[in-house]
Amino acid sequence: MEWRESGSGGDVVLFVHGFPFSGEIWDDQLADVPAGWRFLAPDLPGFGRSRLEGDAPLTMDALARELAAFLEERGVRRAVVCGLSMGGYVALALWRRHPGRVRALVLADTRAVADTPEARERRYADAATTRAGGTGPVVEDMLPKLLSDRTRERKPEVVRRLRAIMETASVEGVARALEGMAERPDSVPLLHTIDVPTLVVVGDEDRVTPPAESRRLADTIPDARLHLFPGVGHVSCMEAPSEFNAVLHAFLSGLSAR
Ligand code: MLT
Repeated sequence: MEWRESGSGGDVVLFVHGFPFSGEIWDDQLADVPAGWRFLAPDLPGFGRSRLEGDAPLTMDALARELAAFLEERGVRRAVVCGLSMGGYVALALWRRHPGRVRALVLADTRAVADTPEARERRYADAATTRAGGTGPVVEDMLPKLLSDRTRERKPEVVRRLRAIMETASVEGVARALEGMAERPDSVPLLHTIDVPTLVVVGDEDRVTPPAESRRLADTIPDARLHLFPGVGHVSCMEAPSEFNAVLHAFLSGLSAR
């Protein structure tokens, strides 16, 4: 996997991007790293600059395994795992499969429930469309739903950056991640086992993973707190970078103090 990194020190945050993005969605976080912290933002296989090898399905568990190996290769024993949307599904899979790797969780614009049968069927249909005609239809269908009206009106550069990021996703990356998300298990029964500090954040205008999903995460995970970003949609780290960084840094400094 290719990755971006910034900062130095023994305290690590592993950023896991959503679908169909890349590690580039975390550029504003990597531009503002608190002292003593090292921020790592890989491109998941098939996204951004990371190639997808072999023909194994991109399940959330497979992605968690890749990330556990990624940490191992960098000599990182435990990291704060910050996942947005699909990255949150992967963060929960990391907790399920490799809890010893997880020092704390940041669950951004995500949810614990599995897909409904209708959503699953739509994912398989979208995977077939992507294999037949490229990633264009999925990108065009998703873009209008991702950002709040305020972001689209006031921050056209965020719309441009996000589109450019989505256009780097490969056909197989998109198709296999759609299938992987369709097959992900229900993580709700896992939530009460999470015994690391957890920060849940969401844009209050997130239409992809609405705030009710985040409330459920924060209400069920024992040591969790919830933060809502007003006027923000599904990609809170890009739509409200200063607010996102302020909330993240406060959470991280609380961990350092423990
Ligand atoms: C994402 O942003 O990662 C995806 O929209 C999540 C999903 O489709 O469930």
